[in-house]
Amino acid sequence: MHWSGEWLVNALESPTSEILPEFHADLTLLAPVRHIGLAYGVSDESPQVLISEADISHRGDELAEQIAADYKDKGEIVLLGVLKGAFILLADLSRRLTIPRLVEFIAVSSYEDGDVPSGAVRLVMDVRSSIEGKHVLVVEDIVDTGHTLHYLIDMLKSREPASIKACVMLHKEHSTEVDVEIDYLGFTIGDEWVVGYGLDYAEQGRTLPYIGVVKP
Ligand code: PRP
Repeated sequence: MHWSGEWLVNALESPTSEILPEFHADLTLLAPVRHIGLAYGVSDESPQVLISEADISHRGDELAEQIAADYKDKGEIVLLGVLKGAFILLADLSRRLTIPRLVEFIAVSSYEDGDVPSGAVRLVMDVRSSIEGKHVLVVEDIVDTGHTLHYLIDMLKSREPASIKACVMLHKEHSTEVDVEIDYLGFTIGDEWVVGYGLDYAEQGRTLPYIGVVKP
């Protein structure tokens, strides 16, 4: 939980939320706090479109076609979505593919030093079944510093899958600090903070159908 201006705004706009239960009784008393939240730097505007729904869909078709062609003689593949951000890409990709596939999930989290990611990653939820001898395609919404994907690929390789590749919707190329191989990439983007298509800012914006830029 980050004590940001946006946190305050969201809390005040969601009176049924559990995050400020003690304040439900009289939200009017907290109206000035909302302004503090906004003044802290949170915009009321919708995120500006960076990649439209149509462009995401078109690129999704292309990626699925390429993946299906590459794996066509390999039998069943395991689509391994990295929670939470990959849930929409995984849903779309799994329905587009024309090859035999299973769906699995894994969840990881970055250790933070204060508010700053330390680069260390820990496993929060493991895959339910063994990936030994399977063709695994890790599905990620974004590679930013690259630490998450680097950790995952290393960790999963040790379980001896038949192969392991990565499909990633967005790559923040200039922020990447470690070497990671992205086998199937949707788009390369700049250093902006993006939401939508699974990506969030303080848990907001994940279900936007497009990828938009927020200005925190
Ligand atoms: C995001 C994203 C990737 C990771 C990439 O996850 O989904 O897993 O960050 O960052 P990196 O390349 O700098 O390691 P986040 O920790 O925000 O969790 P979420 O998927 O639950 O939103």
